[in-house]
This record gives sequence, C-alpha cells and structure tokens, in this order.
Amino acid sequence: MSKIVVVGSSNTDMVIRSRTIPRPGETVIGGQFVMNAGGKGANQAVAAARLGGDVAFVARVGNDMFGKQAIQGLVAEGIDTRYVKKDETEATGIALILVDEQAENLISVASGANEKLSPEDVLEAEETSRLISSAKVIVTQLETPLATLEKTAELASQFQIPLILDPAPAPKTPLPASLLEKLACIKPNETEASYLTGIPVTDFDSARQAARILHEKGVKMVLITLGRQGVLVSDGIREPEILPAIQVEAVDSTAAGDCFSGALACGLAEGKSLRDAAQFAIVAAGLSVTRLGAQQSMPTREEVLAFTEGKK
Ligand code: RIB
Repeated sequence: MSKIVVVGSSNTDMVIRSRTIPRPGETVIGGQFVMNAGGKGANQAVAAARLGGDVAFVARVGNDMFGKQAIQGLVAEGIDTRYVKKDETEATGIALILVDEQAENLISVASGANEKLSPEDVLEAEETSRLISSAKVIVTQLETPLATLEKTAELASQFQIPLILDPAPAPKTPLPASLLEKLACIKPNETEASYLTGIPVTDFDSARQAARILHEKGVKMVLITLGRQGVLVSDGIREPEILPAIQVEAVDSTAAGDCFSGALACGLAEGKSLRDAAQFAIVAAGLSVTRLGAQQSMPTREEVLAFTEGKK
C-alpha cells in the first residue's frame, strides 16, 4: 500500500528561459525552450518518489498525447498511477512558463482536466482500495477544485491521516474554516501566508504572527517558506524555529515549493520529526532551484544526502 498519497494537478509545462521576462506588448528574443512534465500535484508526487517515498497519485489528465506522456513519466518514477483518470472531454492541463536570469518565473495555466478532478474520484480511490485510510501522509494543493480538497480533508480527518496542504497557487478567497481545522500541516510561502491570514508576511516576525493565526484556526503544523531567507517552522507548542535556506546558484525557482512539500511528506511518512523533515525539504528544494524545469529538476535522495553530508 502507498504511504504517500498526492491528490492534485498534472500539467505539461512549456518553458522559455531568457534574459528577462517580457512586459505586456514586448517581445524578448534569445531564450532556451524546454517542454517538461509539471503541475503542482504531479511535481510533489515526483519529488517524494525520487526521495524514496512510496507514492500514489490521484489526478485527471486529458485523453491526449500530453496526458499519456504525463502518465508514462509518473510510472517511470515508480508512482502508482491507477488513480490518474484520462478525462474524455477536457485536455491535459498546460502551463506556459517564462523564467528570467534571476530564476524568477511567471506562469499561466490552462487547467483543462484538472478542473474535473472530483470528490467522487477521491472517494472511489478510497472505496476500491482504501487508498486514503491506509496512507501515512496525504498531500494536496489548490490547482484542482476546492470541493475535491474538502472531500480529501474529510476522509483524512475521518481516518486520522495527516493531511499537508500546500496552498498554492495563492487562494484569492479565504479558505473555509472547516477545511483549515482538518489540516495537520500547511506550507504557504510569504504571498500565500498573507492571503490566508490578512497580514503582510515579509520577514520572520510577520511569519511568526501568521503562523499563530493559522494555529488558532486549527492547523497543527505551520511551515512558512520565505525564499532565500529560509523557513519558519512551527508546531504550535514550542517557540517557532527559523531554518536557513541553503546557498545555491539559482537557475529556475519553478516547482521549488512543490519539491519542498513532496520532500516534507516523504520525511514525515518515514517518521522524521517536523524539524528534520523540514531540513530535508529545504535541501531538496534548494537543489531543485539549480536546474531548469519542474519534474525534471527534482533531486534524488542520494543527491540530498550527499549535499547534507558535504555540509557536516
Ligand atoms: O509550481 C510549479 C507548477 O505550477 C508548474 O509545474 C506548472 O505546471 C504550474 O502548475
């Protein structure tokens, strides 16, 4: 049985890395193009699998060339794709991504089949193979319908399985209180934490305040990523701790947050403490930033361990 279950999105990413990201109306020539598998959910699944996790993925792709390629890629990573449905009416999600020399990005997503991932899809995975109730950790994000996330949270809570929410892309409306109180862990970046709490999160002091608000809403563990500043880790019991980011040569920050969540899930599923799982995730996400692309940038467990050993 799979220990880590990811419920979420799968996209095909069309990426151009160039000197600058064009402004509206501008054309920038001279970029490098790659097409690679993406989608926040699938990225998390691949990150967890490369780091040694036993992963199953619940998703929808289109019954098209991109959907078939996405599934093939996931299978090659050893991920259980029995719960990835091919939707007959919608195309596979597509993301157009522009990356500049500072490794910053701009992303536009045509969700396609991701919008059809339904509460019934999650329920079916549970009813046919006890996928949810036998998981060690469940991970999800906000690129598929909220009703599907709510059903996942309801089942996770019913079976007392820890649910990690990576609230990306940033929610434009408040998340329901009934959802937040069912989360074992939330992992916003500074923008997402600002949307979720209503306070501008820019540094560790504001992140600490945001973490307190999220704990008051019932979330047990809060990790707020602050880019190069590091990560605030709070278990709601002890004083929040600040873990520094690793210093790397940044090429592309796309999917670094997804890598962090997948690695965090992997660490927690194998019994690491929250702090150790966060430390593992910081190294994994830092390494992913040194490479272009989403799934193709995810590091292996060996790479993370080698980096960590080299630092001792
Ligand atoms: O988080 C990065 C991901 O966001 C990309 O892979 C893209 O598909 C979008 O979903």
